[in-house]
Amino acid sequence: MPPVPVLTIDGPSGAGKGTVSRLVAGRLGWHYLDSGALYRAVGVAASWADLDLSDPAALVHCTFDTDIRFQDDGGSLRVIVNGTDATDELRLETTGTLASAIAAIPEVRAALKERQRAFRREPGLVADGRDMGTVIFPDATTKVFLTASAEERARRRHNQLKEKGVSVTFDGLLREILSRDARDAQRAVAPLKPADDAVLLDTTGLSIDEVVDRVLALVPARAD
Ligand code: DC
Repeated sequence: MPPVPVLTIDGPSGAGKGTVSRLVAGRLGWHYLDSGALYRAVGVAASWADLDLSDPAALVHCTFDTDIRFQDDGGSLRVIVNGTDATDELRLETTGTLASAIAAIPEVRAALKERQRAFRREPGLVADGRDMGTVIFPDATTKVFLTASAEERARRRHNQLKEKGVSVTFDGLLREILSRDARDAQRAVAPLKPADDAVLLDTTGLSIDEVVDRVLALVPARAD
């Protein structure tokens, strides 16, 4: 039996990973792993439990103890953390910052490894996240690293939040994106970097549909 095919889509926040990965998974009829949501879910659980973020042992415990379920809600994904729908809280910037801090702890990353690999099921998996092609699925069939300039990423995020009625400044978002990039790229474990065999795709100035088509063109048809 050939291994279940995996397409990994890595890259910094705001490069369009989430939207592109979901659309590509839909077009291929494959499963979808939003790995960032796992880190965000642990962050939310840690904040609900009022854990001390400078206590790695407590956070590792929390990672093992947190029940995380994904529910397909007619195209959009709802994330249930310890029985409570945390989808909206997961998307907050503050949760992203929490997740980024938690994601820098090696034992937390190790604790989430097998959970992520369990998503690899027939007929295939689109795995979205910073270390999908480098650490979690090094044998992936196809690896894509999406990039976009920091300004473009801040602009996209700004528009997204504006549509949702959330008021944030562009400059604040840009600063947040640059500092999160730096933290994710510099951390000792699974830093943000493309796998050696990843295809780099700069999405600056491209529409979502154009990016989706370019990614799909990279996925080989199955022979079996
Ligand atoms: O992709 P995202 O914004 O939902 O991710 C939230 C944080 O989780 C991000 O700052 C870095 C971390 N993360 C990670 O370290 N590894 C992943 N595979 C996914 C997310």
